[in-house]
Amino acid sequence: MSAPQQRRIIFQHIDEPGYTPDIDCYLRHGGYEILRRAVTRPPGELRDEVKQSGLRGRGGAGFPAGVKWSLVDRKSGKPIYLIVNADESEPGTFKDRYIIHQDPHQLIEGTMISCFANDVKQAYIYIRGEMPHGARLLERAIAEARAKNFVGPNILGTGYSCEIYVHRGAGAYICGEETGLIESLEGKRANPRIKPPYFPAVLGLYQCPTIVNNVETLCHVRHIIDMGGVEYAKIGTPNNTGTRIFGVSGHVQRPGTYEYECGKITLGQLLYDVCGGPLPGRKLKAVIPGGSSAKVLRFGEKFTLKNKDGSTRELAMEDIPLDFDTLAACGTMGGSGGLIVMDDSVNMVEALANINAFYSHESCGQCTPCREGSLWMKKITSRMVHGNARREDAALLKGVADQIPGRTICAMGEGCSWPTQSFLAKFGEEFEAYHETKKNRPADALPLI
Ligand SMILES: Cc1cc2nc3c(=O)[nH]c(=O)nc-3n(C[C@H](O)[C@H](O)[C@H](O)COP(=O)(O)O)c2cc1C
Ligand code: SF4
Repeated sequence: MSAPQQRRIIFQHIDEPGYTPDIDCYLRHGGYEILRRAVTRPPGELRDEVKQSGLRGRGGAGFPAGVKWSLVDRKSGKPIYLIVNADESEPGTFKDRYIIHQDPHQLIEGTMISCFANDVKQAYIYIRGEMPHGARLLERAIAEARAKNFVGPNILGTGYSCEIYVHRGAGAYICGEETGLIESLEGKRANPRIKPPYFPAVLGLYQCPTIVNNVETLCHVRHIIDMGGVEYAKIGTPNNTGTRIFGVSGHVQRPGTYEYECGKITLGQLLYDVCGGPLPGRKLKAVIPGGSSAKVLRFGEKFTLKNKDGSTRELAMEDIPLDFDTLAACGTMGGSGGLIVMDDSVNMVEALANINAFYSHESCGQCTPCREGSLWMKKITSRMVHGNARREDAALLKGVADQIPGRTICAMGEGCSWPTQSFLAKFGEEFEAYHETKKNRPADALPLI
């Protein structure tokens, strides 16, 4: 079966000839009309629409946005903050940068509607430090929106005032973890906080109730308010509503960003029909489906899944519908929507060594299992690729990875161990033959880590 059509909601105008990131272009395409309508409605009604939409966060964990908003402590008397998470540092993830570069006003409008819905008077866009162009575009977009009275004091004459500030990130992956981000925004080192008690909805920025949402999530809010939560929930599949942007990188003919209804396209359709399949003469070998933390899938794998009535069904890896729940049932996750594709030219020991080098560099160091474990995993895979490993190293690697999850302050403990656990489980033979890794490297391969 060939791939369905893209359903371009967030990408409605992105890539259209002549579509530019300035406000005049945005206004010509109906921009800020939804904000205009939103500010005439009771904020609680807008929150209900988001809840009814079933929208799940697009930043990684897939937590329902409406539920997150409902957890905000509205009785404390403290200001409520909203933070747009534009840190986007997960390897293999590049959708938020694309939205910001192509259509910054869509994000500003989604953010302002979300602020109004939650009685937020100050919002921050925390953008990855290495994205200076995006930061400049956002600064300009906010200034343009302020000049037209969509941001700032007395928005559209309603008496409601709200400012948005752009804050450039501190250049570390951990700044994307919501409580690390909050620490960084407060001017400190981005050490994640312990939950409980520091759930952002109660004790977030400056110990005040805080909403942290991903860029794409907040863009969806604009469309939910436009079409209504119930209508939005008809897009996608039950419990996996709406569209999502898939960023495909690696060994396919047409890598890029594509927007599809959640669960309406399979992994095989996306990689073969949409992305053109493998490069000439190559075969697809593995894919990491949701950013580098997600567990790897091996081409040819089959999964036994439970049906609602208790019976089971078998699902081939290529037939996995791309939604949060099926990917989780297959032992991995939709995560950030970034798919990293590897063909048969890739040695999995080398690929894992690369990932492990990243995580050991990015661990903030607060928790021993993550700090030491990520470093050990890096050292072991590094000596494997250099041909210096010991016979027992594959077992040691597994032992280290298995001791990290569930024992750390933040989810990076899981994120750094899942690649090692899944690479070993699915490509164990390459780790057993680690002494061949160096010998088999093609002459034109990149330098080893
Ligand atoms: C180590 C780590 C890094 C993260 N990096 C990002 C990031 O760059 N962008 C993002 O939106 N979420 C990131 N997250 C998830 C955030 O903590 C948070 O769940 C998310 O911003 C919530 O937004 P959402 O509910 O709209 O998905 C990261 C989580 C962890 C554990
Ligand atoms: S799990 Fe790792 S990154 Fe997260 S707080 Fe602990 S040491 Fe830091």
